Amino acid sequence: MDKKKRLVLIGGGGHCGSVLDAARGMNRFEEIVITDPDIEAGSEYMGCRVAGADEMLSRLFQDGFGMAFISVGSITSTRLRKELCQKAKEAGFDFPNIIDPSAEVSEYAMVGKGIFIGKNAVVNAGARIGDMAIINTGAVVEHGCRIGAFSHVSVGAVMCGDSKTGDSVFVGANATVIQGVRIGMNSIIGAGSVVLKDVGPDSMFYRSGGVKFKNAFPTDMEQWFWGSSVKLLRSWDGRMEAC
Ligand SMILES: CC(C)(COP(=O)(O)OP(=O)(O)OC[C@H]1O[C@@H](n2cnc3c(N)ncnc32)[C@H](O)[C@@H]1OP(=O)(O)O)[C@@H](O)C(=O)NCCC(=O)NCCS
Repeated sequence: MDKKKRLVLIGGGGHCGSVLDAARGMNRFEEIVITDPDIEAGSEYMGCRVAGADEMLSRLFQDGFGMAFISVGSITSTRLRKELCQKAKEAGFDFPNIIDPSAEVSEYAMVGKGIFIGKNAVVNAGARIGDMAIINTGAVVEHGCRIGAFSHVSVGAVMCGDSKTGDSVFVGANATVIQGVRIGMNSIIGAGSVVLKDVGPDSMFYRSGGVKFKNAFPTDMEQWFWGSSVKLLRSWDGRMEAC
């Protein structure tokens, strides 16, 4: 059997379910197995065989599996995804893109390797998606956007035209990053936030409903949008690792 049609999903948690569903929908892989240290070898996940822990990777490659995909998700840190990616590379695997058939990806978008694009997500013309990025269910990456390697645009989040993220950025569920805004590497945007200005690297930004902050900062619109820099834009300790 063609090595490129045999796929190992690394990580059997919730995100793996979305990845497996999309991979099956692509009708491109003839055999799919999962590795996960926390699931008993020989058991099944959504009808897919669990081959064992990550130590099985070299053996699976020797047995003729040529493709691997990191099916562990990421929110506050991409460290585990990076470690697993390194292990898979060292074992010899190549990384396919897994794009759900319901997603709309413009033929004028540029995508790297190992990327997941979930159900009903949209990646529009001129967008560039870096290696290992996740564009999750229903997310929109508009024209001219750049999404850095290992970044995750979470469910329903909207990256408006020409906005950008550095590497290893998390944009939370239903957040909106308005046009042209840049999010520095390793930063986290909280679910539901509206990001109107650039966010620096290694930062966390989130914003509650207007009423709360309108009351707190009634006279200063700048503060209303951004809140107090101490509370709303804080350094994220332990996330300074290089990509
Ligand atoms: C931003 C985030 C990472 C912060 O997590 P945290 O550091 O553990 O923050 P806490 O839960 O301790 O909350 C701290 C404060 O911020 C507020 N807060 C947290 N997240 C917020 C958000 N997204 N919007 C507005 N306020 C938020 C909390 O209400 C709390 O306020 P308080 O101090 O007045 O009680 C997290 O809340 C978040 O939004 N995660 C994204 C979830 C998501 O998108 N999941 C999709 C997975 S596919």
